[in-house]
Amino acid sequence: MKYAFPDNFWWGSASSALQTEGAREGETTWDYWFAREPNRFHNGVGPQQTSTFYQHWKTDIQLLKQLNHNSFRTSISWARLIPDGIGEVNPEAVDFYHQVIDELNEQGITPFITLFHFDMPMAMQAIGGWENREVVDAYARYAQICFELFGDRVLHWFTFNEPIVPVEGGYLYDFHYPNVVDFRRAATVAYHTVLAHAKAVQAYRAGHYAGEIGIVLNLTPSYPRSQNPADVKAAHIADLMFNRSFLDPVLRGEYPADLVALLKAYDQLPACKPEDSALIAEGKIDLLGVNYYQPRRVKCRDSAVNPQAPFMPEWFFDNYDMPGRKMNPYRGWEIYAPGIYDILVNLRDNYGNPRCFISENGMGVENEQRFIENGQINDKYRIEFISEHLTWLHKGISEGCNCLGYHMWTFIDNWSWCNAYKNRYGFIQLDVETQQRTIKKSGEWFAATALNNRFEQE
Ligand code: BG6
Repeated sequence: MKYAFPDNFWWGSASSALQTEGAREGETTWDYWFAREPNRFHNGVGPQQTSTFYQHWKTDIQLLKQLNHNSFRTSISWARLIPDGIGEVNPEAVDFYHQVIDELNEQGITPFITLFHFDMPMAMQAIGGWENREVVDAYARYAQICFELFGDRVLHWFTFNEPIVPVEGGYLYDFHYPNVVDFRRAATVAYHTVLAHAKAVQAYRAGHYAGEIGIVLNLTPSYPRSQNPADVKAAHIADLMFNRSFLDPVLRGEYPADLVALLKAYDQLPACKPEDSALIAEGKIDLLGVNYYQPRRVKCRDSAVNPQAPFMPEWFFDNYDMPGRKMNPYRGWEIYAPGIYDILVNLRDNYGNPRCFISENGMGVENEQRFIENGQINDKYRIEFISEHLTWLHKGISEGCNCLGYHMWTFIDNWSWCNAYKNRYGFIQLDVETQQRTIKKSGEWFAATALNNRFEQE
């Protein structure tokens, strides 16, 4: 079978500032947390040990070219650009991002730029992070500065990458700083993130910049164990909490009424101001980035909730370990390629078929050195993973879904938050000690696919 993609399809990959650039003047929550609790990070490796993009950006962009990328997403570090989050702009950071953006454009690689990829300046966290509306305003100022500085040469902006993740990690499940477990505070963080997003969109519209603005969401389709109404309801609530809490505001300009009613019933709603709804309505986007790694399988709870326990999303469902599901054992995530198709069909049928693209998809694998053949990692499993997902993506496009591209996570193996370098995701192998870069087999396969705008599979 041959799978051809539409003209001008975006082929590329994604990365983020904190995970690749290396040390900077402005402290982030990650630097602060790592300095205090290095044991929380795999092998005690922190955010200083990156793939040194700050030094090697020029040669790395050559490698992107070698992989036949026509587009590439990375983020601007708020803390590098404005070390205390709200004050002076650092001219060295401005030069750095100018150079990177110019070089990408010169090499024919369209820059896609994210404004916030989990890396809160510590000075902003110190005043409450996303719980504080002053931080929302500081973010809006930062976004506007970025548009003014780079808006003539960056035509695809993303306000946030996976905004639900800092909510889950920082305020529910204890895998990001500030390690709080408190649903109402989590809901406040999520709500203020939506306000921050909307303020950035508002500023972008007001500036009449040449490009488009969107957001990147990690969408996890929720599949019920069975069609029993209790299982279906459990899946619906998981969908409301983890997907629609961001998807609806950014595409429809409002929250789902049943999500609001549910949180109200449990007294978990954040404090809202009368002017917020008009602002949220202004946050509708031009382009949606979809990160897809895994589905969410759920069933109704078998046991009663402990009324003393903290209120959690899991009050309404249990995770369902479907027998025989295909797993990526290194990350503990299910591999389910049809999920990508289901997401696109949902967007087509229920959200007016927005302009979208797959902004991340990928597979982190441990100890890839064992697959080295003639000096190169032969990551067949990754090629299989990508082609399977592309097959389903192709089906979605052929049925009218408005999907404009496919970006992989990631370009060069990079530092993965608490997992540090445990699992490798890159098209290019990184030797962390020597910083040597070596293209994996999947990199070659992707380069050929991008060049031909098609691939073949039996
Ligand atoms: C996405 C993020 O959640 O998945 C990336 O946008 C992240 O920043 C990637 O690195 C892979 O997840 P992890 O947790 O294995 O690094």
